[in-house]
Amino acid sequence: NHFELINRLYKEQILPKEDFIRLIEHRTAEDAEYLASLARKEAQKIYGTGVFPRGLIEFTNYCKNDCLYCGIRRSNPNVSRYRLTEEQILSACESGYELGYRSFVLQGGEDPYFHDERIVSIVSAMRKSYPDCAITLSLGERSPESYQALFEAGANRYLLRHETATEEHYQKLHPEAMSLARRKQCLWDLKKAGFHVGTGFMVGAPGQTAAHLAEDLLFIKELNPKMVGIGPFIPHHDTPFKDEPSGTADLTTYMISILRLMNHHLLLPSTTALGTIDPNGREKGILAGANVVMPNLSPIDVRKDYALYDNKICTGDEAAECVGCLGRRMESIGYHLEFSRGDYREYL
Ligand code: 5AD
Ligand code: FES
Repeated sequence: NHFELINRLYKEQILPKEDFIRLIEHRTAEDAEYLASLARKEAQKIYGTGVFPRGLIEFTNYCKNDCLYCGIRRSNPNVSRYRLTEEQILSACESGYELGYRSFVLQGGEDPYFHDERIVSIVSAMRKSYPDCAITLSLGERSPESYQALFEAGANRYLLRHETATEEHYQKLHPEAMSLARRKQCLWDLKKAGFHVGTGFMVGAPGQTAAHLAEDLLFIKELNPKMVGIGPFIPHHDTPFKDEPSGTADLTTYMISILRLMNHHLLLPSTTALGTIDPNGREKGILAGANVVMPNLSPIDVRKDYALYDNKICTGDEAAECVGCLGRRMESIGYHLEFSRGDYREYL
């Protein structure tokens, strides 16, 4: 086992790249259990057994990008494209608020229709109606001025996964028009604008090695985000990666535990993708040190159209109220949903 390495990570909250590689490549079931027990304990010291729910509103599946892994990529002609109106978004918030949510995430593809004026109008309206709620945006790469305007309109947080911190690997996952340098610059711009920033990556993305994952960890250490979203890669049948294998729940939860030990205060979601490759994936994520879940709050009839990968859970009629489902799931492992803004806690 690698308990000595794990103890060093626990103490220093960082490891040299070669040690991260060793910890990932040569991991054992014993290592995973030990890491998870430390991670869970540290998360509980700061956040108790409360898990923060964020109501996820997938407001557009139009996207100008063509990421090779993503089901809503521009060049997929089989997607039935939709945009929610400002009224539909506000009404999703209203039903969410009644269910107890105090944290909303607006997520969409990079859709030029939603230029600054449109998004600022939506965010301002949400801020006015829900002064006690946290507003998180996840709309991809934009200009520093745009980020500034969105922050000033009342958004508090922004999620933008870096996807992979290794240049060559980034180029394998994205068309030439996209660059890792630009992605990283956006993350720094977001911080500068005042956002609490979330980044992240897929586990088991095509071509990914332990060295790539180690680079992801080192980049995250440098960026020092408040949130890190990770989930397994899952192929989508209409993409160039349709025949690539999925990432595993085991490696995903292992990476969650490592991230928790690198920053005990982190907001770490147990993602829908993790719940998709393993029926108890989200519970396993929490037990590995995650403390956030993102139930779907989009209107039922559009959920199936926001398919980044195949077999995504929570897209059918039976998933009308994910919050009830997740509440029961959390209670089955001795946790509970905590209905608050779910801010990053600096102190114990
Ligand atoms: N499998 C898993 N995650 C995916 N994402 C996009 N496509 C897939 C896929 N096929 C993730 C990306 C993106 C986030 C919104 O969803 O990391 O940043
Ligand atoms: Fe959506 Fe269980 S969380 S159906």
